[in-house]
Amino acid sequence: MKIQAVQTTLRQLRTDAVALFVPEDKKLFDAEMTRLKKIFGNTLDDIVRLENFHGKESETISFLSHKKIPAQRVYLAGVGKVDKISPEQFRRSAASVAKHALSMKLKEVSFRVATSGLENSKITFEDIGKSVTEGAVLSLYTFDKYLTEKKNERSSIKSLTLFDSQAEKVKSLKNIVNKTRIICEGTILARNLANAPANEIYPETLAEAARASADKYGYSAVIWDKKKIEKEGFGGLLAVNAGSARPPRFIILEYNQGQKNLDTIVLIGKGITFDSGGISIKPSTGMAEMKMDMSGAAAVIGTMESAARLSIPLHIVGLIPSTENLPSGSAMKPGDIIRHYGGKTSEVDNTDAEGRLILADALVYATQYNPAAIIDLATLTGACVVALGSHATGMMGNDDGIMKQLTAAGDSTYERVWQLPLFEEYEKQIKSDIADVKNVGGRWAGAITAALFLKKFLPKNKEYKWVHLDIAGTAMLEDALPYTPKGGSGVGVRLLIEFLQNW
Ligand code: BES
Ligand code: ZN
Ligand code: ZN
Repeated sequence: MKIQAVQTTLRQLRTDAVALFVPEDKKLFDAEMTRLKKIFGNTLDDIVRLENFHGKESETISFLSHKKIPAQRVYLAGVGKVDKISPEQFRRSAASVAKHALSMKLKEVSFRVATSGLENSKITFEDIGKSVTEGAVLSLYTFDKYLTEKKNERSSIKSLTLFDSQAEKVKSLKNIVNKTRIICEGTILARNLANAPANEIYPETLAEAARASADKYGYSAVIWDKKKIEKEGFGGLLAVNAGSARPPRFIILEYNQGQKNLDTIVLIGKGITFDSGGISIKPSTGMAEMKMDMSGAAAVIGTMESAARLSIPLHIVGLIPSTENLPSGSAMKPGDIIRHYGGKTSEVDNTDAEGRLILADALVYATQYNPAAIIDLATLTGACVVALGSHATGMMGNDDGIMKQLTAAGDSTYERVWQLPLFEEYEKQIKSDIADVKNVGGRWAGAITAALFLKKFLPKNKEYKWVHLDIAGTAMLEDALPYTPKGGSGVGVRLLIEFLQNW
């Protein structure tokens, strides 16, 4: 799909469909209608009345231009009341226009990035350009590579245009559209990796995908095979891998490597390419979704790729421990004790709490980079889904400043995060009599006890700043959201890029 910013006007633009944003406030709404009636005539009143269009958020109508302008079809897209307007309204409006245009088999859609009437709102021209691009591009995503039938009949939008009449605004719009496209492509990469079945994406191929991205966009990828993982003593990763016929991988990605003047941020992603539960096997209903248990890893790869393409001035390290979690005669068993990288031990009470076991090794490994922040992303607990559903990522950590930054990034990207507490009273739930820690903490507060397990592995030699993001509910969607189809959402990429850009 071609995405472009163009200097033009409604009276000049040649396109299949053009979308105009309309605020709900009566005065602004009427003023816009008066302007539009000069082009489309008084019948516009009838159309708007007949379709019951008021400019409310997510309301869209369309009509044929009857050659009054070169564009064939016109969309009016409501964005709600000006004092409530936010980028999210524009993402949703653009998404609903784009999806409708696709269903009409149109090939080109154009959006007018006008701010007339919005001068008094908090939203800027740049915000609108960015969110319209995001809403349109992300809503048109489909995972259709395995659909072999009716391939030619499926429609697709070939070109997306954002336009304004002023040259200097279009100059900045071009820049915004390009940057936003890069971030959306990172998100789409993460979605594709998550949606790929576990017979396509397993540790070796996940590592290859990361390497391909690194080679293409100029960051480094070092991939450890099983022998190296054994040599380094990643006991958690090896224990979870013990039941699998496929070997594990540890993936180390690095951007701006060796630039000593830059702050280092380490991102860790859970890379379980299929989670059957292991010997503590999961029920078969819903098990197929567990091909997406590498969504944290996918988000880290998508973020590394976008960060490199955007030349973000930070030393960014991405660490991905990756394995399947399967039962077999050689599998890890309940009661086993593991020695992790760095020497701490854990008692396995439930082999389905495997994510924390592989993340523990990576967390200890992360500290050698002397990072300014460590952020891990993991589809870690069902308990987090129970607590927050699919509209907020669970956030826990030991540094309020970084959590505040992530909260702000979550609000502006709408990949929202919500903090849960790490009160020390919860710690006794994961106490073990025979190892340093136990991998499950009983029925209650499961998202918190999982995070406390991870926290246990931060070395005490220094106060490492660490934040854990439990994306179990936000990364794998049962139902579609306005610009996110069901399945892998790619959550984390837009959030982390926003966070890194504001660092
Ligand atoms: N990958 C799952 C968590 C999960 C559940 C992600 C549902 C997305 C949707 C994780 O490895 C797991 O199985 N966790 C267990 C932990 C329990 C055994 C303490 C869980 O949440 O049930
Ligand atoms: Zn599990
Ligand atoms: Zn898991």
